[in-house]
Amino acid sequence: MCGIFGCILKNGNAAPIIHTSLKCLEYRGYDSVGIATLNNGQVNIKKDQGKIDDVHHILNLDDLPGSVGVGHTRWATHGAPLKVNAHPHVDCSGQIVVVHNGIVENYAELKESLENLGHTFVSRTDTEVIPHLIEETQKKNPSFTFTEAVLEAVKKLAGSYALAVISANEPDKIICARNESPLVIGVGEDALYCASDLTAFLPMTNKAVMINDGELVILTSGGYEIRRIADFAVVVREPKVIDWTPEMAVKQGYPHFMLKEIHEQPATLRNTLRMQGHYLDLISTFLDRANEVFLVACGTSYHACLAASYMFSKLAFLPSYPVYASEFVEQHGKSVNIDSTILAVSQSGETADMLGAVTCSQQRAATILGLTNAIGSTLTRVSRVYIGQQSGPEIGVAATKTFTSQLSVLAQLAFRLSNKRGKISQDEMDYLAEKMEHLPQTVEAIILTQEEKVKQLAKKYRDAKIFFFLGRGINTATAYEGRLKLMEIAYVPSIAFPAGESKHGPISLIEPGFPVIFICPKDGVTHKTLIGNIMEMKARGASIISIIEEGDEEVKALSDDYVEVPKGIPEVLSPIPFVIPLQLFAYYMALEKGVNPDMPRNLAKSVTVK
Ligand code: F6R
Repeated sequence: MCGIFGCILKNGNAAPIIHTSLKCLEYRGYDSVGIATLNNGQVNIKKDQGKIDDVHHILNLDDLPGSVGVGHTRWATHGAPLKVNAHPHVDCSGQIVVVHNGIVENYAELKESLENLGHTFVSRTDTEVIPHLIEETQKKNPSFTFTEAVLEAVKKLAGSYALAVISANEPDKIICARNESPLVIGVGEDALYCASDLTAFLPMTNKAVMINDGELVILTSGGYEIRRIADFAVVVREPKVIDWTPEMAVKQGYPHFMLKEIHEQPATLRNTLRMQGHYLDLISTFLDRANEVFLVACGTSYHACLAASYMFSKLAFLPSYPVYASEFVEQHGKSVNIDSTILAVSQSGETADMLGAVTCSQQRAATILGLTNAIGSTLTRVSRVYIGQQSGPEIGVAATKTFTSQLSVLAQLAFRLSNKRGKISQDEMDYLAEKMEHLPQTVEAIILTQEEKVKQLAKKYRDAKIFFFLGRGINTATAYEGRLKLMEIAYVPSIAFPAGESKHGPISLIEPGFPVIFICPKDGVTHKTLIGNIMEMKARGASIISIIEEGDEEVKALSDDYVEVPKGIPEVLSPIPFVIPLQLFAYYMALEKGVNPDMPRNLAKSVTVK
């Protein structure tokens, strides 16, 4: 999730405005920053790795001539957070300049064919193919205008993009295009802007034009023109006056980052489906060859590991051991060895307990693999192979979108492993792959149809002193995660167990009205047994709140309250949709309690002490 910005001014220098606007977008990523301007047929670029203030301190980002320019603040996805990978990126001639937010899925194929045509690449980014593609299009079609060349080039891109392109040959315009990454145009008195979001230009103008997927925009000092990419048809759209404060704009109108991030999950899940297959393959090869596999993490990331141990076992027949990172050294420090493989999962890539487990394993010559949201973090530096989970920055302290992204990546690893090991029929794999592709829509539907219901549930149960979360099989992990969210965000003491364990002790807590949340997917063999567990609780007067599949009349009839997710979700993928109502429940319970869900007391986003 990077931030892009561009502006065309009637008078004055663009660079200081781009610099200030990028600061407003820094929450979208801060691995590197870059600005390019056009002046007298010359492209001027300053860029480097690091936060905007640090780079500005060394390079003086304001000191670039010209009234037209673009800028970028980066959240690394392809390529480490180094200067060479910082945007803007240029073509061979250095005349065509691109900033981009998104993931070009087919960049490897495009890069190969462009290299065969003589193009030279300097970075490891997917973005760099775009200026070269535009250059190549112009070379092949000398009569094309700059706009036509950009249009033809973007038609060849698969994946997501919001991009802004400038060219020294037509220095009076910026061309932007959008597919599945946000893009908005700002219309000022003496300037036009394009940006990843409103925050960037709200101090200058509150007149905005939202751009839709499949649209291209030509900005000149005289105005903006929107065209459909597919057929170049003109789209007429007037600017709207936005009455958001800058703070509301950063949260895109949501009252809290946590809610914004819960709502972002359809998009972040879509991003995980664009993972680089090469890295998934590499990691699954290491897992396949390992003698013993430990899945090591803390908190929410540990819950993802727990779910992954079921996925690996069920789909690939690979035994793996999820371990709390804080316990790893005590539990396995003496036995971990050259034949062990550690898959460390960490959103931040900096959690001290996780790094402690990794260091211990490294000293004993184990193989370290990483899954993280922070490319360039310590975990990426110590891993033999790592994979970025592509969630974009998560600002709310509670992990939400990063949890479902981790689950999605781990499920894809399980699919690859399964393929390698030939344990599952092709038909079943195809079925699972199709369901996986559909998950973003499933999650979208849950948020759309169930949020209000969950909100009402929070009102109903706001005074409950304690909650029980129960699930079976892979959804033990979902129950743990639901409990953690409710405790950390709304400060409601909660207990979670595998449902089968509840009768071995915890059930003694139950008295009339005690709320018990059951996670009840329909697929798999756990459904029937879970009904037995619901009966046990109900017989003792518990209030049953169930998360069920649409049309699960049996569980519905036993429940005091229920939340529904769409039908037909395979068991191994079920934690992804089933956790969504639990995230929303924690959020609305926090609001009921009058506490700020973005900043729970005593917690930090990245726990760098043991
Ligand atoms: C819970 C939460 C924490 C983190 C844990 C690990 O909402 O965010 O439990 O999951 O501190 O952090 P990472 O994944 O950064 O290692």
